[in-house]
Parts: sequence; structure tokens; C-alpha cells
Amino acid sequence: MSANEHFLSGKVAVVTGASKGLGRAMAVALASAGATVVVTSRNAEQLAETAAMVETAGGKALVQPADLTVEADVRALGDSIRQHGGAMHILINNAGVNLRKPVTDFTLDEWHYVMNSNVTSAFLATRECVPMMKGHGYGRILFLTSIMSHVSLPERTAYSASKSALLGMVKALALELAPEAITVNGISPGPFATEMNTPLMQDAEKNRQFLSSIPLGQWGDPRDIGQLALYLCRPESNFITGTDLLIDGGWTAR
Ligand SMILES: NC(=O)c1ccc[n+]([C@@H]2O[C@H](COP(=O)([O-])OP(=O)(O)OC[C@H]3O[C@@H](n4cnc5c(N)ncnc54)[C@H](OP(=O)(O)O)[C@@H]3O)[C@@H](O)[C@H]2O)c1
Repeated sequence: MSANEHFLSGKVAVVTGASKGLGRAMAVALASAGATVVVTSRNAEQLAETAAMVETAGGKALVQPADLTVEADVRALGDSIRQHGGAMHILINNAGVNLRKPVTDFTLDEWHYVMNSNVTSAFLATRECVPMMKGHGYGRILFLTSIMSHVSLPERTAYSASKSALLGMVKALALELAPEAITVNGISPGPFATEMNTPLMQDAEKNRQFLSSIPLGQWGDPRDIGQLALYLCRPESNFITGTDLLIDGGWTAR
């Protein structure tokens, strides 16, 4: 591997929701370029599996379990990075949940659950990590937004609201952090084959409906999200900020 392929050597990345799915794929992709990856979510056992994959891919891993909706847990995440030197360069705000149901069936607690898991978690992680990201002349913050930030479907009121809120955070933070050469962008996936979509993939009719809405005719492969995140972390991507990249098999082109 050439030196350029290890372009994240010496860089520290935090990937939230790294226990599975897209977060795990992005953690492994960053590791393949030599990053030290701090993997966090609530599930220590699955994080240990991700950590092993990170090490196999060529990176170093630090496991820090946290419920990212809990302020003290996010502070503990920051403390563990500070104990390891305190410099960090990449934050991927990926943790998220989806609840699909008609608006009239939503309890207030369920609404708060979606907004806290998808929006407040990203706010807390960003507030905690930004001070450690300043002063390096390089930084990347990525938010996992969604095609549901741009278009929607029935029964997605809370999810779409939460993912649209992240678009606003991307723009505001891109402006705020530009003087530090920290770029801030969204990645909007279409339907990817992860646990979040198991209820859809296992329902034959819903699976058929989804596949017929994807011009490329298949569920996305999480490794493709890893490669897009890696691209955005390259030094050459330093002029891309305040925007959102769709990776959706053509869903939103209709
Ligand atoms: N898959 C798709 O098609 C798709 C499409 C558009 C956008 N996205 C977005 O991409 C992101 C990842 O999706 P995915 O498909 O990989 O989902 P997933 O397989 O369900 O994984 C979600 C991750 O978020 C973590 N998480 C949720 N709540 C958390 C909390 N309170 N504290 C800490 N971690 C928490 C989970 O960790 P633990 O359960 O271990 O805590 C898990 O690691 C989400 O933001 C999702 O909205 C996905």
C-alpha cells in the first residue's frame, strides 16, 4: 500500500453507532486508511466485534460504550479521548433510529425518542468533540442524513423531521467551523441493507415496493457508504463543505 493510501495515519476518528450497519462499515473504511477509530454505541459486545474488524483493516480501535442521548455518557466519551492525548480529527454522527407509524399513533415519548436519538445525540457528540478537533488545520464532520431529509414516505413524520433537522446543523456548522478548516457535510443514503431495514426487507410486499423505487434495483451495500465517507475525509476533499451527498441508487432522481 502506498503512503497516500494511509492518508489517515495519525488521525483520530469517532464513529457513533459503530456497533453494526453503516457505522461499522465507515469505521472499517477509515481504518483501511490507517485511522485510529473510536467506536461508540450502547452495545459493548458488538463494538468489540467492530474493533476487531478495525484492527484487521489496518487501524487502531478504542471502544467506548455510550448512550449518545445521555449527556454524561457523551462527556465520558470525550474524557476517554482526552486520556488518549485529546486530539481528534474526524467525527461521524451516524447513530440513529427509525420508527415508522402514522402520526396519530405516535406518543410524545416516541417522538422524543426519535428526535433525541437522531438529533440531540449529534448535537451532544459535536459539542463534545469540536474543541478537540480545532487547531489541526484539518477536520471532517459527517452527519448521516437520509433521502428522507429530501423526500419522504407516509409514516415517516418523526424520522423525516429529525433527518431534515440535521441538514440545518450541517450548514450552520460548516459556516462556524470553516475558519478551522473543519468541513461539515451530510451523507444521505437511500435504502441500504442493514438491521434498520430488516422489517422492510423481511416483508415480501414492502421489499418489492422498495426495490421497485430504486432505479438500480437493489438494496445498497454498506461498504459503499464507507467508501463515500473515506472520500470525504481525504485531504483533497477540503473544498466540499456545507452540503449533502445523496447515495441512493437513483431513488431521488424520480
Ligand atoms: N440503512 C439505511 O437504509 C439508511 C438510510 C438513510 C439513513 N440512514 C441512517 O444511517 C445511520 C445508520 O443506519 P443503519 O442502517 O446502520 O442503522 P442500524 O443498523 O440500526 O444501526 C444504528 C446504530 O445507531 C446506534 N444507536 C442508536 N441509538 C443510539 C443511542 N441512543 N446511543 C448510541 N448509539 C445508538 C446503534 O447502536 P446500539 O444499538 O449498539 O446502541 C447502531 O450502532 C442512521 O442514522 C440512519 O438513520 C440509514
